Amino acid sequence: MACMLRNTGNRGAQTDAAPGAPETGAFDLHAVVVRHGREPSRLLAMLHEITQVFGYVPPSVVTELSALLGLARAQIEGVVGFYAFFSTEPRGRFRVLFSDNITDEMAGSVELRSRMLEAFRLDLGEVSRDGLVSIGTTSCTGLCDQGPALLVNDRAIPRLTPARIGAITSLIRGNVPLERWPSNLFTIQSHIERRDLLLSTPLDPGSAIAAAIALGAAATIDAISDSGLRGRGGAGFATGTKWAACRAASGAERSVVCNADEGEPGTFKDRELLTHYADSVIEGMTVAGFAVGATRGFIYLRAEYPFLVAPLRAKLDERRQACLLGPGIQGCLDFDIELVVGAGAYVCGEESALLESLEGKRGIPRNRPPYPVTHGFKQQPTLVNNVETLMAAAFVAKFGAGFLRQVGSTTSAGTKVLSVSGDVARPGIYEYPFGVSIERVLEDAGATDAAAVQVGGPSGVLVSASEFRRRVAFEDVPCAGALMVFDASRDLVRVVENFARFFAHESCGFCTPCRVGTTLNAQAMQRIACGKGSRRDLKDLEKVSQLMRSASHCGLGATAGNPVLDALAKFRPAFEQRLRSLDVLPTFDLDEALAPAREVTARDDAGAHFNQEFEGNEA
Ligand SMILES: Cc1cc2nc3c(=O)[nH]c(=O)nc-3n(C[C@H](O)[C@H](O)[C@H](O)COP(=O)(O)O)c2cc1C
Ligand code: SF4
Repeated sequence: MACMLRNTGNRGAQTDAAPGAPETGAFDLHAVVVRHGREPSRLLAMLHEITQVFGYVPPSVVTELSALLGLARAQIEGVVGFYAFFSTEPRGRFRVLFSDNITDEMAGSVELRSRMLEAFRLDLGEVSRDGLVSIGTTSCTGLCDQGPALLVNDRAIPRLTPARIGAITSLIRGNVPLERWPSNLFTIQSHIERRDLLLSTPLDPGSAIAAAIALGAAATIDAISDSGLRGRGGAGFATGTKWAACRAASGAERSVVCNADEGEPGTFKDRELLTHYADSVIEGMTVAGFAVGATRGFIYLRAEYPFLVAPLRAKLDERRQACLLGPGIQGCLDFDIELVVGAGAYVCGEESALLESLEGKRGIPRNRPPYPVTHGFKQQPTLVNNVETLMAAAFVAKFGAGFLRQVGSTTSAGTKVLSVSGDVARPGIYEYPFGVSIERVLEDAGATDAAAVQVGGPSGVLVSASEFRRRVAFEDVPCAGALMVFDASRDLVRVVENFARFFAHESCGFCTPCRVGTTLNAQAMQRIACGKGSRRDLKDLEKVSQLMRSASHCGLGATAGNPVLDALAKFRPAFEQRLRSLDVLPTFDLDEALAPAREVTARDDAGAHFNQEFEGNEA
């Protein structure tokens, strides 16, 4: 999960602190811990603060933190090691991470990255000897409509060009603190290209809460059920059913969680909803809190969206001032919301992993059942919904069960907000009634030569040109939000290789099928992409992907093979053209792989060698 950075290990005698950072002794960790109420569940927030100061989490700070929180040292190290945004190793004072998403690659990120690496005479993942800068990669930063993008000290810079890279390089060389960098470097643009039911209907703050209170909790849930609202986060579960189960569960304190992790490459619609429609999303959370009987809410925001933290906190405060949040909302409801920032782990979008992360732990998905509605945050009933689902729920509470049914189909009521990127003239957010054809979206976005579209991100469906009449709907092509468009000039083998690398990087490693399977797939795809693959690789890719689908512990592993299986089914010639030979070739030198074992056991006789011919004759 950790992002690609490695230390050159050549920084001589040094303190724990990164250059320019305070000595650990001068840092008041105690004050940080007290500010967070000595709560182990606030561990991620504390680690963010520590990282802001030192650039990493120094070992001496881990020791002190473990004493102050009463947590085992290994537990804290385990958390630090799990998340890409944390590290126990010193990194550069300027930590540059280029987005590794395929759309960034298509927009030229690899060349720009090389340019910066060359300027600092660094290899990818290396920290400069003076500790000034480290350059690595990270998974999709959610800026696919304005890529290529990078993060510097966790702040996003979009729309990279050679000129921008030159400017960033000079600022780093000059050791200019980030606060003094030109603000336009950090400007995130909005591209809302099409508004429909949700994005064009005004909703006065507080009006949906008032309507829900007037209706009563049980009737509000009935309205949500009757509206046909289904989860917009991927699985499409009936929202009313989920809300009813949470309300019915027994527990001392209920919670509502807004899942704003949005880690699926190619997806950025929640970023825009939280930028321009935060009031409606928070309104939906408050309605949900009233309906299920929750007193606390959390917005779990992906760490790659730091530019949303201050505006969202301000919005929460504004609503508290207006008595729309906090104690005594509309005279009868106590409900408040905390903003929690993730730390760079795609798997934390999975609801049970998200809850682990909210509790300050590693984001390992839980065994299910029990489900979050009965055993969620701190084992209490918890409702987890996507940003868009909660926003739609606010409209249903205000305008009634029929609101969504104005458009869409019987099984897919309402609209879907799509993030469109890749080979299109107008990348951005498009809201359509469910049932819109892919063809129509491509036309509106200005895709003139589309050959394939990845719908729903890498874990979704790869659609070929012959299928562009298919519709975005739960009954045809379900989609959490992303459409990545590839024109005829794109190399789909490279695209799938990028997706396979993403899954290998993001697998949490808990279960073997996914941990091993994603790595094997990434290796096979890399071989094929470099023209060193064989037909045996294709067979293995299919076998491994099927195995991951059936045997993985969570949805990440279950869907990790989707792009491989889809691409092999629909674009097989593109793969076969890249094979070194269509005949079986040994693709993995097992004898060479056994060399370390021979060294350890001091054996080098014939029996300690693997007969390579055997592998070649197989299959
Ligand atoms: C690996 C993985 C990542 C996920 N990421 C997200 C995410 O970023 N946002 C989201 O809303 N749901 C995500 N989900 C789905 C959630 O587990 C959950 O189904 C969803 O938040 C429920 O909300 P909904 O019913 O409103 O869709 C993810 C699932 C998996 C398996
Ligand atoms: S499938 Fe297994 S290894 Fe993969 S992310 Fe889920 S729990 Fe982790």
